[in-house]
Amino acid sequence: MARITASVYTSHVPAIGAALDQGKSDEPYWRKVFAGYEFSRQWLKESRPDVIFLVYNDHATAFSLDFIPTFAIGTAAGYAPADEGWGPRPVPKVTGHPELASHIAQSVIQDDFDLTIVNRMDVDHGLTVPLSLMCGAQDPVHGAWPCPVIPFAVNVVQYPVPSGRRCFALGRAIRKAVASYDADLNVQVWGTGGMSHQLQGPRAGLINAEWDNRFLDRLIAEPDKLAEVPHIEYVREAGSEGIELVMWLIARGAMSDAPPRVRHRFYHVPASNTAVGHLILENA
Ligand code: DHB
Ligand code: FE
Repeated sequence: MARITASVYTSHVPAIGAALDQGKSDEPYWRKVFAGYEFSRQWLKESRPDVIFLVYNDHATAFSLDFIPTFAIGTAAGYAPADEGWGPRPVPKVTGHPELASHIAQSVIQDDFDLTIVNRMDVDHGLTVPLSLMCGAQDPVHGAWPCPVIPFAVNVVQYPVPSGRRCFALGRAIRKAVASYDADLNVQVWGTGGMSHQLQGPRAGLINAEWDNRFLDRLIAEPDKLAEVPHIEYVREAGSEGIELVMWLIARGAMSDAPPRVRHRFYHVPASNTAVGHLILENA
């Protein structure tokens, strides 16, 4: 049977992708960011996932503002990096896993979560930057990401957004779905976005390191209680874009009930307008 072995949590700041793509990762400003992922790159190589279930948000790129699914699962065979205004990032195409994705869709929808099925879309920085952080720079033509990826998009851009409670319960349903897939697959679930940031309005530039670090503590130790935090607290304490953090609860909900093993923890300010947070948890 397929099994979820670990979860990874990371911010997705687009300027991180640009720094890598433009060969700036050795500049002092960026070196401090990438230093937090050196362990992670080695860890990812050694943990050898067969599939990454990658929870992220689309930034009005694939879905525009014409239609906005709350939860959308990618069932395609592949996904191209999106053009977000400066041309597509020079990174490899993402290979999908249509069989496992369809199985998860079947199981999770029958478990009462209304997912949108996506058979074709491009993926923006929300998905490609976490892959770049965890894998390092890749040749767009001859390189490849380490394994197939199932994109799972969550609406945190246009209100109303899903609650932390719903995200955590959805993670539980994804866990059950993976466990009932009849193939010996090592699956990782990644939760991305966050941490505190606000990109517009009078509070633009807001960072709340104390709240972020408490979020990391609680995500590890008491995710069920953390899931009760209402969306307004994210916005108040972590800024309007801090709401991206509810996606981390999907990945955490997919983990076993037993306390996880914390393999890595990193927190750094600044990276563009955002506090970068990163965790690797393994199932005990
Ligand atoms: C930034 C962060 C984001 O999450 C995003 O989607 C766009 C920009 C930033 O820090 O600049
Ligand atoms: Fe974002």
